[in-house]
Amino acid sequence: MAKEIHEQPEVVGHTLAHYLDMGSEKVALPTKLPFDFKKLDRVSISACGTAYYAGLVAKYWFERFARLPVEIDVASEFRYREAPFQPGNLAIFVSQSGETADTLATLRYAREQKQHVLSVVNVPTSTIARESDAVMPTLAGPEIGVASTKAFTCQLSVLVCLAIAAGRARGVLSEEDERKLVRALVEVPRLMSEALRVEPQVEALARDLAKSRDVLYLGRGTAYPLALEGALKLKEISYIHAEGYAAGELKHGPIALIDETMPVIVIAPFDRVFDKTVSNMQEVAARGGKIILIGDQRAEHESAIRFFKAITMPDMAADFAAIPYAVPVQMLAYHTAVVMGKDVDQPRNLAKSVTVE
Ligand code: AGP
Repeated sequence: MAKEIHEQPEVVGHTLAHYLDMGSEKVALPTKLPFDFKKLDRVSISACGTAYYAGLVAKYWFERFARLPVEIDVASEFRYREAPFQPGNLAIFVSQSGETADTLATLRYAREQKQHVLSVVNVPTSTIARESDAVMPTLAGPEIGVASTKAFTCQLSVLVCLAIAAGRARGVLSEEDERKLVRALVEVPRLMSEALRVEPQVEALARDLAKSRDVLYLGRGTAYPLALEGALKLKEISYIHAEGYAAGELKHGPIALIDETMPVIVIAPFDRVFDKTVSNMQEVAARGGKIILIGDQRAEHESAIRFFKAITMPDMAADFAAIPYAVPVQMLAYHTAVVMGKDVDQPRNLAKSVTVE
């Protein structure tokens, strides 16, 4: 898992290079898609676990850059609630292994409902890939650790290129906007390399986190799915109970959990909702909560809050912060589990690919 966390700048760089034309600063999808984005009025996304959280981040990007409504659900729910589909729309399936039973079953359901089926997989020869109309590979290389890391950030890299291509095809994203977005995307591998340097801060924090009984992760916008992913990572390899929440939901219940024993990890890139996240942190601080900020220097200084700890990320455009910000989230789970002496690569009760329901 440590090796795969550190491979991310390289494999995300490879994946982006496969979907971008750096010369013209445009998205250049490697395969012609068997459908027309202009004719879609909805996209559905379905996956499980970490791949589902990648889809949840992509929902923000499709709706923002392509003005396409996205319906998303975990595959095990999608397939049994018989979601009504408009024939001729697009169903996207995200899966590292390409063999997850629930995701495959939902793909088959979507095909029966006459959806165009596109899969984002790390194994192009997998069953999910073979049963798709279009396959967009993540170039993460084999992912061995049960806890998915590099596949997740490569899934995000593919999905954001798809969302930008959709925006261009639908005429809602200008050529200049595309160039600006692509220029920011090209910076992501370097930002991930810089993010890897927070490891000593994370290691020091992990020794504290290891003593926790429960941990709360908060985030807004595309940092909200990251909060969910952070909680899953911590749960699945350290076995500490953790929960991810939309920061704006704090007052609707979870604030009752806050006390000096509850670490609250706030994933807060300096984005357009940052000041809202600051007020959430003030609410936590006012109740003696232990706030751990994952943010950049501006976030630290502008919050004017006494943090229990701050993990200082490099400054970056907020559009794609979810990709580099996955690094400290993954590292925190990894180092906490190591401090606790857990088998990080083969956590109890878990399989790398869940090929049965
Ligand atoms: C993530 O760390 C877990 N290993 C698990 O949630 C995983 O993401 C999920 O089982 C989906 O697997 P897939 O991407 O191979 O479909």
